[in-house]
Parts: sequence; C-alpha cells; structure tokens
Amino acid sequence: MTALKNDLFLRACKRLPVERTPIWVMRQAGRYLPEYRAVRKKADFMTMCKTPELAAEVTLQPVDLIGVDAAIIFSDILVVPEAMGMELEITEGKGPVFPHPIRNEADAKKLKEIDPGQELKYVLDAVALTKKELNQRVPLIGFCGSPWTLLTYMVEGQGAKNFSIIKNFIYNQPALAHALLDKITRVTADYLNAKIQAGVDAVQIFDTWGGLLSPHDFETFSLPYMEKIIRRIRPKDIPVILFAKGVHFSYPKLVESGADVIGLDWSMEIGAVRKLTGDKVALQGNMDPTVLYAGHEYIRGEALRIMRSFGHGSGHVFNLGHGILPDVPPENLKALVRCVKEESAQFHGSASK
Ligand code: CP3
Repeated sequence: MTALKNDLFLRACKRLPVERTPIWVMRQAGRYLPEYRAVRKKADFMTMCKTPELAAEVTLQPVDLIGVDAAIIFSDILVVPEAMGMELEITEGKGPVFPHPIRNEADAKKLKEIDPGQELKYVLDAVALTKKELNQRVPLIGFCGSPWTLLTYMVEGQGAKNFSIIKNFIYNQPALAHALLDKITRVTADYLNAKIQAGVDAVQIFDTWGGLLSPHDFETFSLPYMEKIIRRIRPKDIPVILFAKGVHFSYPKLVESGADVIGLDWSMEIGAVRKLTGDKVALQGNMDPTVLYAGHEYIRGEALRIMRSFGHGSGHVFNLGHGILPDVPPENLKALVRCVKEESAQFHGSASK
C-alpha cells in the first residue's frame, strides 16, 4: 500500500486501472519557468545540483505551479562522470563540456570506480529532502543517463555535429569502449539503487543518443547495458522507464528489456506502438515538444489526438517526446496539463468514448 495522495503515475506505469491519465514532462524543472530562472540567477547549475535545498526547491516548482502528477529530482545525467573524476563545465548557452574527454586507455584509467553513497551523496540528500517537502503529494522520479549516452558525452567532450569522435572510438577501440560501458553500468546501477533507498518511487533511464546507432550497434553498445542496469535494480517492483530517443526500430526489443514503461519520442503514433508492443509494457509520451509553441486550442487538439491514438485503458503516461524547450510559455504547459486532466477520464473505467 502506498501512502501517496496521488499515485496515478505509479499505477499507470504498472498498467493498473486509473481514473484518468497521469502527466509529467521531461525537463519540467527548467529554464522555461521564471521561478527556476530566479533561483538560477543566484547559483550556477552545479551549485544548484549540489545544494539539496535548491535542488528540492526547483523540483517542487512544476508540482506547485503546473500541477503535474509526478516530480523528477533536479539533477543531471552528467553528475555521474563528474563524480567519477571528469571535470564538467555547464555554462549558459553552451551546454555541457568535459574539457578533458576520454580518448584512450590512459584517459580511461583515470576514471574512478566510485561509491555513489559517498561521491553522489548530495543527490541522495536532495532526494530525501524533496520526498519530505513533497509530503506524499505525488511520486518522485529518479533518473540516470544510459551508459551509451554518458560515454558519448565523455568521449566527445561537448555537443557534436556528426558524432565522429565517439563513432571512431567504438569502431577502432571496441574493447576499451565495452570496458568503459561496463564500468559506467556498475556505477549507474549502484547509483539508481542508492536513489531508491533514499526515497525515489520510480526511475527513468535516458538514452538520448541511442538513435545515433544503427539497430545492430544499438543492440551492441546500448541496449545490453541498460538491460544489465534494469536486472540489478532493487526492489524489483520499482517502476522502470526506459526512454531511448530515435530508436523506434527497436521497440519490440525494448519490450523484452525488463522495463515497465517505454518512453517514446514523437516519431511514431503511440497507438501504432501500442499495437506493436502488445500491451506488455506501459507507454510514456509522446507529444512533439514544439507543439507547446502553438495556441491553447491546437495544444488541446493534439493532446486529445494522442490520447485517442493510445485508446482506452491504463498504461499511458502522458509526456512530451523529449524535454520541454526553454522558450515555451508556462501557460501553454498549464493548458496541456489541464486538458489531460479534464479529458482523459473518458479513456478509463467503463466510460465510453
Ligand atoms: O527533467 C527534469 O526537470 C530534471 C532535471 C534534468 C536536467 N537534465 C536538468 C538540466 C534531467 C532529467 C536532465 C537530463 C539530461 N541532461 C539529459 C537527458 C535528457 C535529454 O534532454 O536528452 C541530457 C542529455 C543531459 C545533459 C545536459 N545537461 C544538457 C544537454 C544540458 C544543456 C541543456 C540546455 O538546454 O542548455 C544540461 C544542463 C541542464 N540540465 C539544464 C537543466 C535544467 C540547463 C542548465 C541551466 O540552468 O543553465
């Protein structure tokens, strides 16, 4: 039994009956909110991540201001390589940069195999404080980057155009690439388990760069490592969301990954994915984030179209197909959340469409 006042999100993850479709959005604690920017003015990004009071404050903002059905702990996927010893710079407008990327055996040796309970204790403290401040209103999601997506950043060093450095790396030094992926996998599994112990109610694995790979390479360099992480998650019944971007070719494989929920980008109709995956997993998504530039009526129409496409029954967590963009008016996200809350009951229970 859960003490949560609103556990719609957790029930939908497990495809249990719900009264309406739950909604949260990726990057919901972020720069599109003036209240986030006000906190960010006082502290740089990593200071915010490393100060539990600030991390908790911005984690709660979208719950209080937008009314989403789940919170996601404010942090970043790149805190893991930073904790393993890589210097990380996150500067406004430039995106994240590792000034000393990994390119060879000697660089790889410098990576520390850490105990997340120590080196990432600040995240666990932020989780515990956020759980307390949420006061059981909605579930709290913890997350990590996939080993492949983290390795891409660690080898490229910064945002890339055609990802030639990481591709060169995996094709010319495959043994080193796999050794690194293994190391990241072990740390990440421990990290997620520590977050679960600290209080998160569900976890999401972000494989933002899965779609850089061909289907065969995705199944060589990304999917097996995510499966290893999922197998190691304890307790086993914690909902796991696997969001891999640009990999619709692999949805049937993702169903077998052990994840409870597959996160979708907007490249396929959610109803078509539901048919393909045969209701064996829940689906999360999948509105194109740029639809939030449109007027409220258009946003509502699109939200309804996606809910109709999924159809009747539980197993849909409404979300965008990727993170909310920093220049979206918060009012537009509010309109989306209102629409999902008001209109989704018709897709549940015995109500007819
Ligand atoms: O979803 C949430 O609200 C929780 C917080 C969260 C952040 N990053 C905060 C953040 C989450 C879940 C992430 C995940 C993340 N970080 C991913 C996977 C999801 C995705 O978008 O694909 C990736 C690839 C990163 C790496 C990263 N961190 C990038 C590319 C950037 C720059 C983005 C930008 O828009 O400038 C960051 C920094 C970052 N992480 C910001 C936020 C709110 C902006 C930093 C700032 O305030 O200046």
